[in-house]
Amino acid sequence: MCGIVGSIASRDITSVLVEGLRRLEYRGYDSCGIAVCSGGKLTRSRSIERVAELANDLARDHVAGFVGIAHTRWATHGAPLICNAHPHFSFLSHEPRIALVHNGIVENHAELRLELQAAGYVFESQTDTEVIVHLTHFFYDGDLLQAVQLAVQQLKGAYSIAVVCRDEPDRMVAARHGSPLVIGRGDGENFLASDPLALAGTTDQIMYLEDGDVADIHLDGVFIRDMQGKLVNRPIQTVQVQDAVSHLGAYRHYMHKEIFEQPIAVNRTIQAVFPLAPDLFGAGSAAVFKQIDRILFLACGTSYYAALTAKYWIESIAKIPVSVEFASEYRYRDSVPHPSTLVVTVSQSGETADTLAALQHSKSLGMEHTLAICNVTTSAMVRECKFVYITHAGIEIGVASTKAFTTQLAALFILTLSLAKARDQITPAQESAHLASLETLPLAMHVVLSLESQIMSWADEIALKENALFLGRGVYYPIALEGALKLKEISYIHAEAYPAGELKHGPLALVTDQMPVVTVAPDDALLQKLKSNIEEVRARGGELYVFADAGSQIYNQAGVRVIHMPVYKGELAPILYIICLQLLAYHTACKRGTDVDKPRNLAKSVTVE
Ligand code: M6R
Repeated sequence: MCGIVGSIASRDITSVLVEGLRRLEYRGYDSCGIAVCSGGKLTRSRSIERVAELANDLARDHVAGFVGIAHTRWATHGAPLICNAHPHFSFLSHEPRIALVHNGIVENHAELRLELQAAGYVFESQTDTEVIVHLTHFFYDGDLLQAVQLAVQQLKGAYSIAVVCRDEPDRMVAARHGSPLVIGRGDGENFLASDPLALAGTTDQIMYLEDGDVADIHLDGVFIRDMQGKLVNRPIQTVQVQDAVSHLGAYRHYMHKEIFEQPIAVNRTIQAVFPLAPDLFGAGSAAVFKQIDRILFLACGTSYYAALTAKYWIESIAKIPVSVEFASEYRYRDSVPHPSTLVVTVSQSGETADTLAALQHSKSLGMEHTLAICNVTTSAMVRECKFVYITHAGIEIGVASTKAFTTQLAALFILTLSLAKARDQITPAQESAHLASLETLPLAMHVVLSLESQIMSWADEIALKENALFLGRGVYYPIALEGALKLKEISYIHAEAYPAGELKHGPLALVTDQMPVVTVAPDDALLQKLKSNIEEVRARGGELYVFADAGSQIYNQAGVRVIHMPVYKGELAPILYIICLQLLAYHTACKRGTDVDKPRNLAKSVTVE
């Protein structure tokens, strides 16, 4: 999704800006651009190609400057065209005077546009962003800081912006409200970015701006004012970020590589748990786990399905009532707050706008016990929650989450055990058995990856279809949901998941020989019920693709293809079954020739609502 980089130095900063954009590339974008100020002139270069092409254009045109801003855009308002790419300019006598980049959404852009047009400003784009640059120009009276302060007061919605003005080439102004922005401190030079990752290799001295902050950035100083205009100190933190540069090695796609990295990633995630220390989730967490009487999960997409899986585990093992809410719904609906709730946000990025807003909403309702299950230590979510568990998936480049999901599941299983222990719901013997099973999980995951060639032959068949149904029961229902999400997002095959018991309440009407029905059939308490559901599909000519435990006694026959799981893992088996569904989606997408790592219309990190 959109990314911002900015820099002011006594050297040409173009390469810093390009490198910053490269580091943000994996999040997904459809255009990019840079503006630099040099010799009293603003120069801009924009592209609807990759950052590498933008870099070539900059080199060809000898673009250089000591102050500049850069952006990767993921279209919200206006198509991915050059005219809509950032930076946006506001002109004085046909010469660019102010340049601006923006992340977020200006909700009142239509009204502002009309007012600015009436004042004589000419719009070049369909973006909501362009109103901010003209507003800043409208208020500009020789002081960029003041102009930005006045401009942002007019905005409704979320924004982080970076602004430069050709009349003041020794300053860069930035502001944030609802979208992340950090300042990177250097020696006689300063930087800004929407994520410290963009500045890796440039500086690790990071100041996090807070909502309402406006920063006045010079070569040798940064002055931050809060919402009231008061000068404030934001501490400088040393932030070691993971390098986003990951090499494909022998793999064709990052998604494939990340599927195969899962045993190692889960192994890293579970390392902290042997033994199961009381305050594994942060100082005081065990006491809170004992005291709360319900759990509320807030998440989006794949992370939501991880939370839904955890609901089954927690209610069964730790005996606490759990609700799981789509963050985008929860933040706006009238819910009944309950102070003794543990609010758990689950997020790979820790920057998902809806999840962050839902977390803030829950806090505003008086629920103060908050826990983030997150993959990014430096993220806003980690900073906003009282307790934290880091998932250690490592950087995930593929837009379709794979190792982020399985590491979330591992962390959520650990949460289940910690809750159960704090509330005396498991005996020491049960705890040891669970931990022993967890310890061998990475190995079991490794073994399951060896099913790849069998799964590929199914993918060849499914790639020819336009629809698919996924079935699971109990804790495997969220696994079916995640399997369907994987297939739809990367292969563009319409896929739906149902709890198998719901079949005859509607979806059975869809079953024909053109509808592959992918079924997760572990050897658990619901197996006999699931077998009846399989028969219902068979009787209607449906084509079943069943992943089953060896002990499930489901065998290949007309209309039923079976892949038997090579290992049995009891409660942890959902983490094994999802690997099969990931591989099925991946190979189906490859067969259809889609852009697996960057599926159409999607971004890695959804930082706008
Ligand atoms: O970073 P988050 O986990 O908060 O992201 C939430 C969703 O956008 C994300 O899980 C998305 O559904 C997956 N990348 C899809 O594979």
